[in-house]
Amino acid sequence: TKKMTITSIKKSKGASKLVMITAYDALFARLLEPSCDIILVGDSLNMSFAGKGDTLSATLEQMIYHTNAVAQGAKSSFLICDMPFGTYINPDEALRNSIRVFQETTVDALKIEGGEDKAHIIEHLCSNGIAVCGHIGLLPQAVRSEGGYKVKGKSQEEQEQLIRDAKAVERAGAFCMVIEGVKADVAKEVAKSVSIPVIGIGAGKDVDGQVLVFSDMLGLFEEFTPKFVKKYMDGASLVKGAIKSYSDEVRSGEFPQDIHTY
Ligand code: KIV
Ligand code: NA
Repeated sequence: TKKMTITSIKKSKGASKLVMITAYDALFARLLEPSCDIILVGDSLNMSFAGKGDTLSATLEQMIYHTNAVAQGAKSSFLICDMPFGTYINPDEALRNSIRVFQETTVDALKIEGGEDKAHIIEHLCSNGIAVCGHIGLLPQAVRSEGGYKVKGKSQEEQEQLIRDAKAVERAGAFCMVIEGVKADVAKEVAKSVSIPVIGIGAGKDVDGQVLVFSDMLGLFEEFTPKFVKKYMDGASLVKGAIKSYSDEVRSGEFPQDIHTY
């Protein structure tokens, strides 16, 4: 597949749905690459990879390390890296940190959480050569201040704010945005209100693409399954079954056999 660009991503709106999946390492990046348009090195790696309870303690160094790993495995994918919590608190810091990621990796764009309130930061990055993907709706980096993960767009006030957020993110220069945890009918209106692609997660089908965390959609994460996740395979059972077989065969002496032996 041909690598997407800012231009082809923007042009896809209304023509084809964008397929985005997260990856944190070269191994999975290589497996995902043939079937997806955009690979996101999400700060969800702090949970899925590092086992923490939320995304807030992910560091810029970790994002850079994982982005380089993913880039090794997916050389022809459009790559987006999340700017972690605390790295874009004002325009200057955001730019300094973004330049670091751009210089130390081959990432194509960065993602930052926030709408109207972050437009001045998005604008500063975009006017300095950093391509930005927005992220509106439920913002995982705000989980502690919000007291949990809450679906957005239930009240009229929240619906109007979401439209303002999307428009502000577009006006600031973002080439696309993620919309997370928003009622489907509201996400549909949000997607219609801007001319850049709006990629949903837990936001229904009437948006311009979908993103999922790879370990969720492969069923590798067993603790709980959010409503918006579809498990395309029962990864946990498959992996545990394989490890059990290996374990049984080692203990019984069935592995290794002649064909595995020098
Ligand atoms: O960190 C992440 O994986 C994300 C996606 C869920 C959009 O931000
Ligand atoms: Na994220």
